[in-house]
Amino acid sequence: MTTTVPSRTATRRRFLACPPTYFAVEYTINPWMDPTRPVDSEAALRQWLTLRDTLRRLGHRVETLAPRPRLPDMVFAANGASVVDGRVLVARFRHPERAPEAAAHQAWFEQAGYRPTVAELPNEGQGDFLPVGDLVLAGSGLRTSAPAHREAEQALGRPVVSLRLTDPRFYHLDTALAVLSEDQIMYYPAAFTPESNRTLRALFPRAILATDQDAAVLGLNAVSDGRHVLLTEAAHGLAAHLHAEGFVPVPVHLPELLKGGGGPKCCVLELHPAPGGGR
Ligand code: ARG
Repeated sequence: MTTTVPSRTATRRRFLACPPTYFAVEYTINPWMDPTRPVDSEAALRQWLTLRDTLRRLGHRVETLAPRPRLPDMVFAANGASVVDGRVLVARFRHPERAPEAAAHQAWFEQAGYRPTVAELPNEGQGDFLPVGDLVLAGSGLRTSAPAHREAEQALGRPVVSLRLTDPRFYHLDTALAVLSEDQIMYYPAAFTPESNRTLRALFPRAILATDQDAAVLGLNAVSDGRHVLLTEAAHGLAAHLHAEGFVPVPVHLPELLKGGGGPKCCVLELHPAPGGGR
């Protein structure tokens, strides 16, 4: 018997990213952050540049959001807004430490010609809102509030599927679930309520499921272009699954940013759709 591995097609993407110029761990708003552990700023910048250059080498555009002093988490650009079909919803951060990042994102989108809506309810952008197919999967429970999902549905103009997160280590949807293609995802079932697990199984019966070990190294915080999947080099199990499913795992090394609780996906805000791209 032969098994066929689906062939996967990459589409060109456009991302917004913010260099880790002021990155530091100065407060604790997720269990990964320990302010007593020093951050090596030069290593953080090197690792971030490698991530950016890897995306560019794969043919993607990466635009720059200027970093602002005293906003050490601004490197995690994914949290500043959601962009779906060219519609932009600017975040409203749950923690006051990150709140001013929203204005920087709003200003960037305005000068780039978008007409952003600013969220009124706690909403952490693409950390918790992930477009897939014709839907947007949304996380709540730890950062983004459940009523914010309805606000996003209005602003983004797409049906939003609500999922509830339960484990503080996986505080954003993009730490527990990654969109791989228009109809495939990978996720860590233990990070969601039983009801959300039922929803995910019904929508994605063939999804890749992460083990405890792959989730614990933030392996799900991955960026996919439909074919290449950038994920931490430590997620060996997921890399093997991705390979078996016809994806090309691209290992990345971001240990300094992991001290802030982030991986490759947190560092890029996808400007959806890419120019000329279908979506
Ligand atoms: N220290 C940041 C925070 O806790 C990390 C954000 C990571 N971003 C993400 N999309 N998961 O808010």
